Amino acid sequence: MTSATRLPDPSQAQGPRHVAVIMDGNGRWAKARGMPRTLGHRAGVNALKRTVEAAPDFGIECLTVFGFSTENWRRPVAEVSDLMGLVKLYVQTDLDRLAREGVRVRVLGRRTGLPADIAEIVERAESKTAHNSRFLLQVAFNYGGQADLIDAARRFAEEVAAGRAAPQDLDEARFGSLLSTAGGPPLDLVVRTSGERRLSNFLLWEAAYAELVFQDVLWPDYGPEALAEAVAEYRSRERRFGGVAAGPHDALAAG
Ligand code: FPP
Repeated sequence: MTSATRLPDPSQAQGPRHVAVIMDGNGRWAKARGMPRTLGHRAGVNALKRTVEAAPDFGIECLTVFGFSTENWRRPVAEVSDLMGLVKLYVQTDLDRLAREGVRVRVLGRRTGLPADIAEIVERAESKTAHNSRFLLQVAFNYGGQADLIDAARRFAEEVAAGRAAPQDLDEARFGSLLSTAGGPPLDLVVRTSGERRLSNFLLWEAAYAELVFQDVLWPDYGPEALAEAVAEYRSRERRFGGVAAGPHDALAAG
């Protein structure tokens, strides 16, 4: 290390590097104002913009948000098409800026079943930002944790059937490499807004050792202040990864 080497900011070195957010409460936010749910989702997009912008200030390198789940198809047709429309609008209005600011956009979830215009926009967002590395924004869209696990299991089964792998080759690292989050940083923190306390089929494998923080704020009211609270809560937790707390002379028993 030379004297010119910048030392990491200790507040940022504590993490979290990767935060996942279940953006819940758009409907209730709208209802409380006598507005249609649609307007709640619109306000939710603005909250997402504020949060993406603030995240690097906390040392966060990757944000994964739940935009649309495999179960959200059960919502009324008009609401589904509104959510699709909002993703389109978000990409159309923000893609150039995200690309300029060094954000890599990655969309997690099944591509089959997506309307053609949405699939095209997803491809464009990913290809236009593929070379960026300052920040990773992962948008889970037509995503379900169980569906992602099934897709990974199928891929491995195909490898075995083709004679390219044997069952005993499968371990945690190999399985993780078959998930849609492969190659991203390990998940440190899952935040859910609106007071609900469930994972709702989000990042089931990835959340194995993540800290969970539940906040009462409704998603459209989210922004830098609420994110600061979640990060402070995360930093107050002791992560043991199945081991024991590290004493002054112990190495952390991670596993
Ligand atoms: C939950 O609120 C939120 C969603 C189902 C979708 C989140 C989507 C956005 C913030 C906008 C579009 C996404 C992107 C990636 C641009 P809810 O409707 O379940 O609220 P409720 O529980 O109060 O009814």
